[in-house]
Amino acid sequence: MEAKTVKIRVPGTSANLGPGFDTLGIACSCYNELELTLYRDERLEIEVYGEGAGDIPTDGRNIVWRSILRVLKRLECDNEFKGAKIVMKNDVPLSRGLGSSATAIVGGIVAANEALGAPLTGQDLLKIATDMEGHPDNVAPALFGGMTISTVKNGWPETFRFMPRLHFKMVVAIPDFYLPTKAAREVLPDKVDRSDAIFNIGSTAMLIAALLKGSKRFIYNAFDDRLHQPYRTKLIPGMQDVFKAAKDNGAMGAFLSGAGPCLIAFADNGEDNVGQAMVKAFAAHNVKAEYKVLSVDGEGAVVIG
Ligand code: HSE
Repeated sequence: MEAKTVKIRVPGTSANLGPGFDTLGIACSCYNELELTLYRDERLEIEVYGEGAGDIPTDGRNIVWRSILRVLKRLECDNEFKGAKIVMKNDVPLSRGLGSSATAIVGGIVAANEALGAPLTGQDLLKIATDMEGHPDNVAPALFGGMTISTVKNGWPETFRFMPRLHFKMVVAIPDFYLPTKAAREVLPDKVDRSDAIFNIGSTAMLIAALLKGSKRFIYNAFDDRLHQPYRTKLIPGMQDVFKAAKDNGAMGAFLSGAGPCLIAFADNGEDNVGQAMVKAFAAHNVKAEYKVLSVDGEGAVVIG
């Protein structure tokens, strides 16, 4: 089998969007780029530029390489291609709740698939990525772009992807500390009250309907959640005050991005006011933060060279 050098661009993502724990995701207009050349010999050359340079492992532990290996094994050509040159140019902040690990997994599997002539389907790639990440909510929008609703039944992920009809930007407040997903999942209870489950079903359904129909009127309470944010509040100093600051300054709603610590507000005007208010609210809790204004990415993972 021949392999070609490929360059891939993958968006960062936000998961949950408040109530849709482990289910909802959205692709954001910040990107990681990845160039892959497969080698027949056991040589691994990994270069990392931008976010994570110096922190991301450049040996066999590298998550992009491990994802590439999954595809090579699946296509039964791991004996033919045993090494690679991988050049990563990262703009997605690391361990902040913007899907950096999903971006790496999706980058690796899409690049390997493309390098080998794209024999795997989007559904195949979704399955591999979900198995690696453990849940589909970040990998689905990283693969397909837009907003995604994902389920997993008997180990098989399914994703419904759409572009929201409501006009908004995502104001992302990025605090200057890392929060590993594992730590943010450990604070969650194993069981929840039925009333909390009902509350989240209502919010999630309302959020999807409002975004699909472009109905701003129904979005204001649709980000409310009782399944994970209340437990994670203690891990992100000032979280509730940052949400309040965003809404007081005109945002439609705000939520914890994935497992955090980034917080995101949806706003259709005055985005800089919203961002500045969120940063100020974090500062009142002695947390240094910056903000970015991002749009919904509609493309997902694409070949750029
Ligand atoms: N749904 C996940 C969580 C996102 O909230 O833990 C992090 O990958």
